Amino acid sequence: MRVKIGDLVFGPEEKRAINELMDNSTISEGAKCKEFESKFADFIGTERCVVACNGTATLMLVMYALRYHSAYKLRGGEKVITTPLTYIATSNAIVTAGYEPVYVDINLDDFSISTDQIKAYMEGVDDADQHRAMMPVHLMGYPCDMDEINKIAGRHNMAVVEDSAEAHGSLYKGRRTGSMGLAGSFSFYIAHNIQAGEFGAITTNDAELAGICKRMKGNGRLCYCTVPDIEQGKCPHQNMGFHPRYLHDVIGFNFKAMEYQPAIALLQLNVVNDILSKRRENVEYLNDALSTLDGVLQLPTRTDGISFLGYPMLITDKSFSRDKVSGQLMKAGIENRPIFNCIPTQQPAYAFLKKKYEGKLPNAEFVGNNGLYVGCHQYLKQEELDHIADALKSILLK
Ligand SMILES: Cc1ncc(COP(=O)(O)O)c(C=O)c1O
Repeated sequence: MRVKIGDLVFGPEEKRAINELMDNSTISEGAKCKEFESKFADFIGTERCVVACNGTATLMLVMYALRYHSAYKLRGGEKVITTPLTYIATSNAIVTAGYEPVYVDINLDDFSISTDQIKAYMEGVDDADQHRAMMPVHLMGYPCDMDEINKIAGRHNMAVVEDSAEAHGSLYKGRRTGSMGLAGSFSFYIAHNIQAGEFGAITTNDAELAGICKRMKGNGRLCYCTVPDIEQGKCPHQNMGFHPRYLHDVIGFNFKAMEYQPAIALLQLNVVNDILSKRRENVEYLNDALSTLDGVLQLPTRTDGISFLGYPMLITDKSFSRDKVSGQLMKAGIENRPIFNCIPTQQPAYAFLKKKYEGKLPNAEFVGNNGLYVGCHQYLKQEELDHIADALKSILLK
């Protein structure tokens, strides 16, 4: 038996949606992307949504947009507080936008950035005004403590960018992740809860930020009028002495999406609540089945309102090696992955920060060495869930 960490099943609806695009020769960003933006903003509870080609691109757009936003006007070199335990795209977006990532440690129970650690850090620095943004990550679907994060950010005029790539629909005090900061960033990568292969979205209530991101994803293009509108002289930028489609007011990227991506994602958005509750049910089933491993494994500590990316576990009994357990699970046909690692001390690309952070992020390092997750997706069958539980018990029960 092979138990996959994630799965994607294309049915007749997906095939019809893709065929329609090809039949109409509408493949580059257009009506489907717009429809997704409107429906996803409604789902998350924000006024606006801007899609892009993937979730790394959306993070980069928001971070870079802070240079042009009138409330922030970053210039490069400023500090951005973030979590050390995440997929590397979070840090990469900070660094490629020209800022310095500052890592504070996480909570072990839900892998979220520790607001106590952020406060302690901010109290100890003498350049508080250089810290201009925070990027919390709702890792594995667990929401960070957004009230505290927003309070700290408010005191220091920091932009809060929620990396919600792994948390489509997670709730924090009744609000969806991605709706509580200046902006949220989502990824619809193949293994996520809404899957499109590659696809990303920015959610925000800030019209200025949405406008900058929208222009920036098209190399800073000023004009998004339709060709007929331009030809009929309706474009507001037509008198600037140049064809409006080739006028650019910010420096940007080509991070536009294709219509195939929202065509697939929209079908899942229609049934997202079913997807999330099936995943939660699977997590609860595994929690019950594995309760005898208390003291050896830390299981998901809470399930209410959480949109689980996978079934996360922490091996707390030091006599077991995570890598060995991972290998034994693979031998039993159960795909698994580490819960990422501590970026500045365990990630080769960030080796230049190793000395600075060594020994300072014990929780993130502990998860980096002892965390792993298996699938909890909606396509798992009963016998596959039982196989996960039986395999873990036979590996870990002494
Ligand atoms: C926390 C986090 N941030 C960002 C990303 C980047 O998203 P993408 O793979 O769509 O570029 C991911 C992807 O898995 C992620 O898990």
